[in-house]
Amino acid sequence: MITQKHITILEKALHEQGLFVTCGKNPPNLMSTHWGSIGYFFNRWVFILPVRQNKLSHEIIDQTGEFTVSVPYTDLRNAIMKADIISGRKVDKFIELHLHPVKAKQVNSFVVGDCGLHLECKVIYTSEITRAVLNDAIFDELYSKKDYHTMYFAEIIMVWEK
Ligand SMILES: Cc1cc2nc3c(=O)[nH]c(=O)nc-3n(C[C@H](O)[C@H](O)[C@H](O)COP(=O)(O)O)c2cc1C
Repeated sequence: MITQKHITILEKALHEQGLFVTCGKNPPNLMSTHWGSIGYFFNRWVFILPVRQNKLSHEIIDQTGEFTVSVPYTDLRNAIMKADIISGRKVDKFIELHLHPVKAKQVNSFVVGDCGLHLECKVIYTSEITRAVLNDAIFDELYSKKDYHTMYFAEIIMVWEK
């Protein structure tokens, strides 16, 4: 189960280089994030992941209801930044970024084998960001193109270190 040590490592990664999210399997798709949150909801440990509605990852998570989070233990900043500018619609990002997919243990997807800590997550609640209840300054700063995030609340069903 998740420990305080895992939470500290994960929060540090969110503040620093970021982390990877993998979903799907044929091939698995990859995105980077430095937004996200770990918390206790619905009597469960949950990872909250924001994904913009136009991303392939959004489409896959809607279909599968699952994803994994992989936290680098080494400097993978280059791959994290590059994952931003290539879309899984055009290329296999694991191949393109020279990363190694390793089969997840509980969900039907993969983790990034080059990372040290992995969370396997199942979506239990979904919430859309909408203009009506969004602060004006945040809208101007982040959503002027109206490409809102969906917030996926996902139960962390397994945690493991390499
Ligand atoms: C540091 C960093 C953080 C990011 N955070 C998010 C995020 O929280 N949500 C999101 O939808 N995209 C985020 N992105 C962008 C996605 O990683 C990127 O668009 C990715 O290529 C999506 O791929 P897809 O269309 O294949 O799913 C971030 C990118 C970087 C480099």
